[in-house]
Amino acid sequence: MTDILSDRDLDLIFREARSYNRWQDKPVSDVTLQALYDLMRWGPTSANCSPARFVFLTSEAAKERVKPFLMEANVPKVMGAPVVAVVAHDDKFYDRIPELFPHNPGAREWFSEDEALAQETAFRNGTLQGAYLIIAARALGLDCGPMSGFDNAGVDREFFPDGQFKSNFLCAIGYGSEELLFPRSPRLAFDEACTVL
Ligand SMILES: Cc1cc2nc3c(=O)[nH]c(=O)nc-3n(C[C@H](O)[C@H](O)[C@H](O)COP(=O)(O)O)c2cc1C
Repeated sequence: MTDILSDRDLDLIFREARSYNRWQDKPVSDVTLQALYDLMRWGPTSANCSPARFVFLTSEAAKERVKPFLMEANVPKVMGAPVVAVVAHDDKFYDRIPELFPHNPGAREWFSEDEALAQETAFRNGTLQGAYLIIAARALGLDCGPMSGFDNAGVDREFFPDGQFKSNFLCAIGYGSEELLFPRSPRLAFDEACTVL
């Protein structure tokens, strides 16, 4: 028993995982979505603030609501997916800090009294949580298709009319089909992206 994932696990999560454009006709159950949230929620956020909020669109009717706001090329990627997550964050995330960061409940005021810091924190940590969602989905054998090609303000009006939640990106979730999958693009080499001081 080692404390490292197997090569096969690392392939599944990173090296062989792709961003899918088309989807197998295979459903994703609500139980699977609950297992996905249960796993991803353990990823770290600053002051454990956990600002991400997710709306899982699972029905045709729900996906129709997002369709008018999509970039044309993203329409089939969304409408053909069993599930599309709207990855959003709660602008008032700090109201939950006394419960989420119990050893320092006063941390709520770091954010409630500084609007710019609150927005930056919500976006940074909400984005990280969106990435945790992708990695957790892959770890559970699901595939993802993240998308930022849509009108965020329109999606916010449609799904979050009281203005408290803000959409960040969409993430199709399901079992990917190889159809329209481009050859894997390269990534930057260590020396191009990293400096060791
Ligand atoms: C935040 C984010 C937004 C993206 N937006 C779109 C999009 O709007 N439409 C699209 O077709 N692909 C979108 N992509 C997919 C990327 O192009 C893809 O992840 C990247 O080229 C790597 O592909 P690979 O995972 O198959 O190697 C997005 C990816 C991310 C992470």
